[in-house]
Amino acid sequence: MSDILTDTSAGVLTITLNRVDKKNSITAAMYASMAEALVQAEADPAVRAVVFQGHETIFSAGNDIGDFLNAKPSTMDSPVFRFLRGISTFSKPVLAAVCGPAVGIGTTLLFHCDLVYAGDNAAFSMPFVNLGLCPEAASSYLAPQRMGYGRAAEALLLGEPFLAEAALEMGLVSRIVPPSEAAALAQRQAQKLAAKPLGSLVETKRLMKLGQVEVVAQRMVQEAQSFGRMLAEPAAREAFTAFMEKRKPDFSKI
Ligand code: COA
Repeated sequence: MSDILTDTSAGVLTITLNRVDKKNSITAAMYASMAEALVQAEADPAVRAVVFQGHETIFSAGNDIGDFLNAKPSTMDSPVFRFLRGISTFSKPVLAAVCGPAVGIGTTLLFHCDLVYAGDNAAFSMPFVNLGLCPEAASSYLAPQRMGYGRAAEALLLGEPFLAEAALEMGLVSRIVPPSEAAALAQRQAQKLAAKPLGSLVETKRLMKLGQVEVVAQRMVQEAQSFGRMLAEPAAREAFTAFMEKRKPDFSKI
């Protein structure tokens, strides 16, 4: 079975992260599949909304660390950046159903979704500093904007997770439901959207995001430059080696 499942019905493309044994961590091949699915959905008039979902127990553990180290994203044409450009510029509504941990890009991709429905077990985290890295997906801009600087600093500098209630309060999440209901709720809302006039949806989303499109695109490039440089530095090497060796990283000498 593929690690990314796609299904289109009733005007809704559903993209499912389907690698539960590895906590839905995302490989370059998975980014490439999702990027391609978004390109096709953007062009396909039969697709009027997109839903991202994982599993009731896990949304995503973020980048697959081993795969990421083997195939470091070296240019802005790398699959991860193609995916991020696709989701951040997608003209039609994007929804997500999020249950369980949403780590790294598992959280930052949500800043590019219009509606996020969370299971009450959802736990969001952006532990880039703990990995010797810096934010991605324009989260260095979008997290302070959406969460307020203070809460963004706790999430991005301390790398502290936050739960569904906090995400609801800060507007990252639209509603919290039992995990078994999140995917169905996202589907229902997506189908409601799919029944509305597409031109109005696209224009409304465009107007809501007007003024931040350029900033987001530029920030992604700036973050990617820093992220790429930091990946090769000792802190990230120690963090990733520690993860592979299933031990705590030791930054005391770095
Ligand atoms: N990359 C690669 N493999 C990962 C992974 C990742 N980001 N996250 C989890 N896995 C793998 C584990 O190595 C383990 O594989 P194994 O069974 O072959 O040993 C398997 O998925 C299960 O993970 P485990 O940590 O045992 O599950 P858990 O339920 O105890 O914890 C998480 C779940 C998501 C909290 C935890 O896996 C985690 O923190 N992952 C790392 C997240 C991270 O730092 N992501 C940032 C990437 S930029």
